[in-house]
Amino acid sequence: MSTYPPEPFRIKTVEPIRLLSQTEREAALEAAGYNLFALKAEDIFIDLLTDSGTGAMSHEQWAALMRGDESYAGARSYYRLAEAVEDIFGFRFFVPTHQGRAAENILSAVLVRPGQSVPSNMHFDTTDANIRARGGRPTNLVIDEGLDPQSQHPFKGNMDIAKLKAFIEKTGPENIPFGMMTVTNNAGGGQPVSMANLRAVAETYHAYGIPFYIDAARYAENCYFIKLREPGYAAKSVKEIAGEMFSLADGFCMSAKKDAIVNIGGLLATRDEKVFQAIQNELILREGFPTYGGLAGRDLDAMAVGLYEGLDEAYLAYRLHQTAYLGERIREAGLQIVEPPGGHAIYIDAGAFLPHIPHGEFPGQALAVELYRQGGIRGCEIGSIMFAHPDPETGEMVYPKLELVRLAIPRRTYTQSHLDYVAETLAQIQKRAASLRGYKFTYAPALLRHFTAKFAPL
Ligand code: F0G
Repeated sequence: MSTYPPEPFRIKTVEPIRLLSQTEREAALEAAGYNLFALKAEDIFIDLLTDSGTGAMSHEQWAALMRGDESYAGARSYYRLAEAVEDIFGFRFFVPTHQGRAAENILSAVLVRPGQSVPSNMHFDTTDANIRARGGRPTNLVIDEGLDPQSQHPFKGNMDIAKLKAFIEKTGPENIPFGMMTVTNNAGGGQPVSMANLRAVAETYHAYGIPFYIDAARYAENCYFIKLREPGYAAKSVKEIAGEMFSLADGFCMSAKKDAIVNIGGLLATRDEKVFQAIQNELILREGFPTYGGLAGRDLDAMAVGLYEGLDEAYLAYRLHQTAYLGERIREAGLQIVEPPGGHAIYIDAGAFLPHIPHGEFPGQALAVELYRQGGIRGCEIGSIMFAHPDPETGEMVYPKLELVRLAIPRRTYTQSHLDYVAETLAQIQKRAASLRGYKFTYAPALLRHFTAKFAPL
């Protein structure tokens, strides 16, 4: 997986990027309180903060924007999207939403009652928060290998079926309004789930009468991993694999900002007509009329085209190779990553890289800030700033097991030389790793502190 595949596209529109001088970068860091979320995007050279909504649309998608029908109800754009959703996913009852978390909010509002539990391999943080916001209890039951950064298991996103059964028995199926699976598992490193595991999950939920919903943000990348790694799927098309995957489910929510390669948009679908009626009512209250959700007609058209482009196998081969290539170059630079590389991002083990910086001084932040200082690159700390919290009983800080920095790769946006530059920057930082220092908070809100906290270097 390590050679770099030629991009299966050529460049028609360019957006200039600029590397500020060392002095300017230092000043930008200081002004941002050493929080990379507070930087101006134009002060960043390579932005790997997220792969969400940051991809490049194709000429066909830009052309589709011009076909957008902005009618309030029943627009042509809606019917084009509906055709794609039925063709790819096999769902007739669906609504567009403005993005993934809007779909999660509506699903949770309609189905979750206070005290109920929603199991998954691992919920993404917005899904987790939307279930909690309705008084529910999100529960993560990924296999143990999924939590071990060095395990080479081919499907580290799999659910632990024994844990799932035990959890349902203990909780009682009547207290589980629906069960989920996230494909690929973003919170666990962008790791895929096998078809065999999805089938076992669906059978388990269904044996207890629990509806099964998929968080489909990166379903196409997951389907391509199945084609590459799971016996019996090499000769199937990714679209066929997707058809099989969604035939197992009773519904799905999707952030279209990932595998539908649009800048904004989401989907929510179900097979249950009663649930669909409730979804439509909630949508009208919060997002818009059911044929446009929170989107413009042109956004629906861009999504309808992007859904197919996200399934294109030349694109997917390039996409997964590109991620693996970055992973390999980072390993060569002497840093450990979450293995094996997932679909959309490389997760660097900053805890292993900076063992002299304790959890409470944020090794992930130290590396993320240094990446910007050295090379104008923006990644994202996924460690103690995001997850450490005081124990409600003892008041003592509970730190997460892993201190990671995620480098998420926007789709069709950066070339091989950009990724080489990222790896070379890390190699330079590696040489002086022992001299890096940690950070302390100068301001931290109580919740979701990574977005707005301020820091000072130690
Ligand atoms: N589910 C998964 C698996 C996600 O990764 C995301 C977003 C969402 C749901 C929510 O979708 O942003 O459209 O509301 N992930 C982005 C990320 C933000 O950077 O990983 P959204």
